[in-house]
Amino acid sequence: MKRLFLRKKLSDLTIEAFEEKHGLKRSLGPVSLVLLGIGVIIGAGIFVLTGHAAAQIAGPAIILSFILAAFACAFAGLCYAEFASMIPAAGSAYTYAYATLGQFIAWIIGWDLILEYTLGATTVAIGWSGYFVSFLKDLGIRVPQFLASPPFTYDIARHGWVSTGALFNAPAVVVVFFITVILVIGIKESATVNAIIVFIKIGIILAFIGVGVFFIKPALWHPFVPPNKGDFGVFGLSGVMRGAGVIFFAYIGFDAVSTLAQEAKSPQKDMPAGILGSLLICTLLYVSVALVLTGVVPYYELNGPAPFAVALDAMGLQFFSPLLKIGAIAGLTSVILVLLLGQTRIFFSMGRDRLLPPFFSKVHPKFRTPHIITSVTGSITAVLAALLPIGIVGELVSIGTLLAFVIVCSGVLVLRYTHPETKRAFKAPGGMATPIFGILACLYLMIGLPRDTWIRLVVWLIIGLIIYFTYGIKKAGTQK
Ligand code: ALA
Repeated sequence: MKRLFLRKKLSDLTIEAFEEKHGLKRSLGPVSLVLLGIGVIIGAGIFVLTGHAAAQIAGPAIILSFILAAFACAFAGLCYAEFASMIPAAGSAYTYAYATLGQFIAWIIGWDLILEYTLGATTVAIGWSGYFVSFLKDLGIRVPQFLASPPFTYDIARHGWVSTGALFNAPAVVVVFFITVILVIGIKESATVNAIIVFIKIGIILAFIGVGVFFIKPALWHPFVPPNKGDFGVFGLSGVMRGAGVIFFAYIGFDAVSTLAQEAKSPQKDMPAGILGSLLICTLLYVSVALVLTGVVPYYELNGPAPFAVALDAMGLQFFSPLLKIGAIAGLTSVILVLLLGQTRIFFSMGRDRLLPPFFSKVHPKFRTPHIITSVTGSITAVLAALLPIGIVGELVSIGTLLAFVIVCSGVLVLRYTHPETKRAFKAPGGMATPIFGILACLYLMIGLPRDTWIRLVVWLIIGLIIYFTYGIKKAGTQK
């Protein structure tokens, strides 16, 4: 019975059946997919969080944290690629979970992915606002603080919210609005805008690495792993572990490529290339950037919203700073774009399955994009970015995404048992070891994250369960 359900679900999800039913444009090739991957991966993680993680959590060993996190992502990425090449339909981990683990787990993961995509876009929009305001300041234009900060921030020492005196974060709202309009207009246009932006940001990062190499003082890499300060996760080996959990944010997004399977020209070949190619390129760039940052500035001076600017000051190259900020602003813009794109396609699939109201899946007659859900997602993201502080949102994104990866790796294991005969255009190497290592590596990074973040994840999942049992389970049962 269960096998029958699985088989039916898998055959329902063939590309042709899906495309015929939903009519999205199939316009993305492997290069566009790699660019979309890089577009979403390199963002607030490297431009904002690296400095904080090096200064307060891991020291120069943040380089090891990057490598640790990359391993976890590689295992999960291989599993994503295998899933994506078997089930080339929109919806990412949500769709894969539906086909392999059933509707209930699918709902859990779809709900969990909101943390990754909507809150991820929110986090990066807040980071974007920081760089934009700083860039305007370089030009002599001051944005008043009350229009560039959230009204409340969370005080860790007092365990409570405190007023900042600000009204809302206006630049973050503007950028989300602008990107939502691009996404409503169409996927082809979105990919083109993204490609231009990706080239700018990679150029800026390569220039930073190329110049920075000549200023490295190897003495700054000693001690490579600063001694632990007494608390778990503050330097020492536990700092490397927590650093990996925090810096994991920088890798989030390579899986977003898999949500675009139904818009890829040849998903069986293009999806694995898009996911793994973008992950590899980003890992090389991150490790190089971390080597330069910690090699030109003492790690404890890297804290603050713009660690790249601190490094440029140390090199005496301040004139390069505004240019770098333009690169960062462009880079963060493309991250928001692909995260919002991924979220709308996941909601699209959930609407199709009636776990969410079906009008979410309406496609615009002219633009052929899911315009209603794109507008709704953009509006919610804009409100969250206007009101929330970056730290709280960013940690929730990391833990939510790691949970999604654990479920994806579990899904690959289940499929290997239940559907050993099903054709896989791409099969993850390493047999059962790859999904098992993927699960363990992601759990390891989750354990490194703070307790408060775990509590927020559990509360979010409980809200999801209430919605499922009061709405989704009944409505989904009514579909033909
Ligand atoms: N990886 C993305 C970033 O660093 C989410 O902004």
